[in-house]
Amino acid sequence: MKGVTVVDHPLVQHKLTLMRKKDTSTKSFRQLLKEIGALLCYEVTRDLPMEEVEIETPLSRMTAPQLAGKKLVFAPILRSGMGMLDGMLELVPAARVAHVGLYRDPQTLACVEYYFKAPADISERTVVVIDPMLATGNTAIAAVDRLLEAGAKDIRMACLLASPEGVSKFHGHHPGVRLWTAAIDERLNDHGYILPGLGDAGDRMYGTR
Ligand code: URA
Repeated sequence: MKGVTVVDHPLVQHKLTLMRKKDTSTKSFRQLLKEIGALLCYEVTRDLPMEEVEIETPLSRMTAPQLAGKKLVFAPILRSGMGMLDGMLELVPAARVAHVGLYRDPQTLACVEYYFKAPADISERTVVVIDPMLATGNTAIAAVDRLLEAGAKDIRMACLLASPEGVSKFHGHHPGVRLWTAAIDERLNDHGYILPGLGDAGDRMYGTR
């Protein structure tokens, strides 16, 4: 699928299988989500622009590569996006964070915004939207809409699991936003949950069910 990278690294796939199991504890689920966050971050940042700088090693001068431009912005969609954030920040500790508070109305499955706070200079930074579950696609679309409204120009999306319906709806709205996911599952059920999926990511992370 164009614009979609399925991260099939063995470590990612093994950890995802552990997360799917219904008997995996809240503690393990949270730890695994954080670890997969870091592994996905590695892939999402693979093509970031670089520049050459002159440095001095203890032995000699050399020209060496470093990341060019301003620091990244990670934009977790509350609440379950927070589960991947710490893993990503471990790889990119100087990144900025934009919090996007959206929830799905359980009846209509439409998105309602309840919180939004982003860096003022977001237009000059690459933004990585984080949401473990790309299900209907509505939340991810609304988050990208909101970030564009705040001025973001360069946006990518990282999720753990996606539905085929969610991917095509998301790319229908935002064809220029590339997406990284650990898997694309079979389909959505009537309640907008991904099958076979892993259940409600927020509830499993925080033990709220
Ligand atoms: N959100 C979840 O947490 N799980 C799903 O399967 C779909 C949306």
